[in-house]
Amino acid sequence: MSSSSPDNGRTYIQEVATRDGFQNETVFIPTAAKIALINQLSRVGLAKIEVTSFTSPKAIPALADAEAVMAGIDRVPGVCYAALVPNVRGAERAIASTVDELNMVMSVSETHNLVNLRATREQSAAGLGRTARLALEAGVSVNVSLSCVFGCPMEGDVDSEQALGWAARFIDEGVSGITLCDTTGMAYPSLVASVVQRFKSRWPKTTLTLHFHNTRGMGLANVLAALQSGTDRFDTALGGIGGCPYAPGATGNVCTEDTVHMLELMGSDTGVDLRGLLRCAAELPALVGHDVPSQLLKAGVRLKRHALPGSFDDIRARAALR
Ligand code: COA
Ligand code: ZN
Repeated sequence: MSSSSPDNGRTYIQEVATRDGFQNETVFIPTAAKIALINQLSRVGLAKIEVTSFTSPKAIPALADAEAVMAGIDRVPGVCYAALVPNVRGAERAIASTVDELNMVMSVSETHNLVNLRATREQSAAGLGRTARLALEAGVSVNVSLSCVFGCPMEGDVDSEQALGWAARFIDEGVSGITLCDTTGMAYPSLVASVVQRFKSRWPKTTLTLHFHNTRGMGLANVLAALQSGTDRFDTALGGIGGCPYAPGATGNVCTEDTVHMLELMGSDTGVDLRGLLRCAAELPALVGHDVPSQLLKAGVRLKRHALPGSFDDIRARAALR
């Protein structure tokens, strides 16, 4: 690892399955099941849980129960309970539900912003500015998630300097964190390293999160590139579920248990109890009604020992006679 890598330091894992994951499911996960899963996730050492989103229930029907979920969950000390909000209305709802952090969202791609949020980037940014002031006055911390930083499924390449320009605007407005999102898995490791290094050199004190989707199989490679470039926070989803319903071709987030497993092997302290996390992941296929992309759920941890074949003694005895 490079000298700037935070190896042996804490790496913060921020769980987004109940927001980025559930928003993309066709079945409505019952409110009580959402609450039970979040309560279980609250006890495995995750730094943050993005509980839900306060969006229009017409746009995201899967998360129409945001208030009930926020009201029903246990609030474990040390865990930050965040929610995604797209506009002032969402911020008012989230603040009334006493979220710890508003995760405001806009896309750096004009086309994706229009499709996802029905507004130009300039309109969204102006709205987010007002929303941020509302939240900061209410004493709630604000993070801004920028979608499509590494490419847009409709526009193609995105100018990363322009993407960082949107980050600059929100940092100037006083938000405490920025998340750079790879909405449809268009990031690749050298691009990630370049963007993270430029971000860190300009805003060393701003909390930076990287949010990858594993759409083209580069999710963990991108996590590693970001880690080695000085990132210590990642959004990940249990089971590797997730995706933006308004981004064509979107598939799941980088998987929480696969990420924790890799980082812990490499000496990063995630603070996450991997066994507890795997117990949560094991319940997910039944909850969402389909198999999930998680590799670890299928393969088990690296040192999982498999039983010997029944004929092993025979094989050994024959080998000894050769
Ligand atoms: N919470 C609840 N309802 C909301 C809302 C919010 N945050 N924002 C808008 N609405 C309601 C309005 O009251 C209105 O309801 P009505 O039709 O019953 O009168 C309706 O939604 C449309 O409102 P409008 O202001 O015209 O919004 P819009 O149709 O332009 O939609 C968004 C804009 C951003 C609210 C909507 O597109 C949205 O929620 N998108 C979610 C995007 C998302 O989460 N994507 C995945 C994550 S990146
Ligand atoms: Zn996402």
